Amino acid sequence: MALIEARSLAKSFRIPSDRRETVREHLFNAFRPRTFERLDVLRSVTFDVQQGETLGIMGRNGSGKSTLLKILCGIYRADRGSLRVGAPITPILELGLGWNPELDGIDNILLLGTAMGLRLREAKDAVDEILAFAGLDRFANVPLKHYSSGMASRLAYSVAFKTVREVLVLDEIFAVGDAEFRERCEARYRELSAKGHTIVLVSHDPRVISTFCSRALLLDEGRVAFEGRGTDVVGEYSRRALTASAGPARA
Ligand SMILES: Nc1ncnc2c1ncn2[C@@H]1O[C@H](COP(=O)(O)OP(=O)(O)OP(=O)(O)O)[C@@H](O)[C@H]1O
Ligand SMILES: [Mg+2]
Repeated sequence: MALIEARSLAKSFRIPSDRRETVREHLFNAFRPRTFERLDVLRSVTFDVQQGETLGIMGRNGSGKSTLLKILCGIYRADRGSLRVGAPITPILELGLGWNPELDGIDNILLLGTAMGLRLREAKDAVDEILAFAGLDRFANVPLKHYSSGMASRLAYSVAFKTVREVLVLDEIFAVGDAEFRERCEARYRELSAKGHTIVLVSHDPRVISTFCSRALLLDEGRVAFEGRGTDVVGEYSRRALTASAGPARA
């Protein structure tokens, strides 16, 4: 049996369809109910993830990749369809969730590490290793609000890599950080994959999908439009990218 089974997942959002930009427009329209339109982001998404495999997900901006990952991790609930996840997941999605900008690097490691499931003792023992992996030893006592955005991302990823459970779900992980940090993340990621972790990763980067993913999906119009080996999906993605525009298809 597959470790993750997603069947006909659907998700839509309500977005405001009237524009109120100026103070005047807001004042004059204050008592008029806002109108909304429905955005069908995922219409019917079906796929399996086998134990120990790395599945890639590609698709243009707004095609619903991050939404799908949030459903996998239990952050959003699908409107329809069914999902079975047979093992605990470590999500590495949007950065900055759970941070406290006033606290320094070490306290944020303890905060995020315990939020992600480490015991306080384990988190304390891991501080040096996490700082070293992030390359941020010098900034251990600096409040997070004074970190650059790349530095904050490095810290978040380094904590997440230390707390990995059986399944790792990554959104555009290789897009942050500089070349040197990226290489370090890739090496850690290979190590996890070799140890048998199951990985689901979203990326726009053809190299990442073809190198790391034995199998990949292409999301388009709220469905799995193409499924195959990483390299084949990359080919299909670039072929379609030549003709596509951003955003999910209109209802
Ligand atoms: N909470 C929300 N409320 C309203 N609309 C949302 C919400 N989350 C996502 N959307 C909309 O759903 C669509 C898909 O968003 P999503 O973030 O899943 O796309 P994506 O494929 O990850 O795009 P990207 O490649 O830019 O990361 C977008 O049009 C977005 O505006
Ligand atoms: Mg996204």
